[in-house]
Amino acid sequence: MNELGKYLREQTIRKEEEANLLKRNDKYRLKLHLMPKTGWMNDPNGLCQINGVYHVFFQYSPLDARGGMKAWGHYTSKDLINWECQEAPLFPDMPYDKDGVYSGCALVNKDIMYLFYTGNVKHEGDYDYILRGREANTVLVTSEDGIHFSDKELLMTNKDYPKKYTCHIRDPKVWKENDTFYMIQGGRTKEDKGVALLFTSKDLYHWEYDKEITTDEMFGYMWECPDYFEVQKEKILSISPQGLEVEKFRFQNIYQSGYFKVNGNITKDCSLEDFTEWDMGYDFYAPQTFEDEKGRRILIGWAGVPDAPYDNEPTVHYGWQHALTFPREITVVDGKVLQNPVEEILSLRKGSFIIPSNKKVKVQQDIFELDIETEVNIPCIIEYICGVEKVIISYQEGILSLSLTKEAGRGRELRKLKVEKLEHMQIFVDTSMMEIYVNQGEFVLTTRFYFEGEDRSIRIEGSKENILWTLNEMQGL
Ligand code: FRU
Repeated sequence: MNELGKYLREQTIRKEEEANLLKRNDKYRLKLHLMPKTGWMNDPNGLCQINGVYHVFFQYSPLDARGGMKAWGHYTSKDLINWECQEAPLFPDMPYDKDGVYSGCALVNKDIMYLFYTGNVKHEGDYDYILRGREANTVLVTSEDGIHFSDKELLMTNKDYPKKYTCHIRDPKVWKENDTFYMIQGGRTKEDKGVALLFTSKDLYHWEYDKEITTDEMFGYMWECPDYFEVQKEKILSISPQGLEVEKFRFQNIYQSGYFKVNGNITKDCSLEDFTEWDMGYDFYAPQTFEDEKGRRILIGWAGVPDAPYDNEPTVHYGWQHALTFPREITVVDGKVLQNPVEEILSLRKGSFIIPSNKKVKVQQDIFELDIETEVNIPCIIEYICGVEKVIISYQEGILSLSLTKEAGRGRELRKLKVEKLEHMQIFVDTSMMEIYVNQGEFVLTTRFYFEGEDRSIRIEGSKENILWTLNEMQGL
């Protein structure tokens, strides 16, 4: 790390120490989800497991809870439950990443961790639309132990990308097939069409552009954070497209994240099936996946959305903003792509109670899990209440809706999606964040919410059986 990097790291450490003092009165601090020690967090980056240790890097602006300088933060864990927040490893300290160590991935090859990211450079003036206004440099850093990192190595610059693209190319994700490495990056053509770009390499250092992957019809103007993987023979291309039109039951956030099933071979000839959103909640974007040492495909998303209209997040008052979702295992059952919290999350369970239906019941905890079995075709409503504020989940005639009252939602109002048959809901409630898993992971909704008071209760109507699990906190957050 050069002198500038060391200076930014020292400033970060000082800020993190100050933040420790603010912690005590912060009623929104999460107990079940990774959040920044201080400042702003966005995309998960560099997800991997190496020698038994899970690594979760993330986009980190430690000096300002409203964003700004983008570095990488770093958590590690042996079990996805007990976490250690490591020193931030990457700062924008080189001419080729001076405006941000942007998103990227990890590849573990022969016990070495290779981190690829976009070094962002913004030139004077309109750097978004003028073609030379922005540099999207592809940079590599390696590590043998996941704690100490090599010097940065510049692998590709704008000159290495074909001329038909704008300078919006970023977020490399790398995988290996036989003896070839593949890298996919998100991009935008000069006609404003969202695309993914495929590159190949034999040695991880020299990369060549191979081809473009996109839809026949335009699907958004920009694709961010692409990811490609296979689960139980199903081939999946995940992207975070920008520029989709809002529909009644889909695409309700400003930007989306979802996947196409891929027919054929992504590295040769392929076609993309319809797009499915990963998460139908208010707060989800830029997910990334990795395969762990048990062979599970695990997805983690950012529980936030860029440029979202929720500009008044009360956590800013406590010096931080945003969080990551649970690690979710992706499986495919009868062609359906399911997401469920990794089984380790269930080891947080302490004790259980049956919650009677049609009755307002006080809850003593601010973190818990609800397991609700519903009656097919019977309307159902779940309310989480604090004074006059509520988070309401309701189901009627094939429509599931999620609504939040004014202060609880801060701009998150009403959201609806089609769920043909509602059978089961598993709802994880953290201090200011909720993940709702519908029908064993067929749909997921993530939302932040903000309750002021401590007096909390639940009311459930129309269900068959409701179990409330009390939960232990995750450690090290
Ligand atoms: C997605 C994103 C990425 C970029 C990063 C910068 O949220 O815009 O495309 O690399 O965030 O923080």
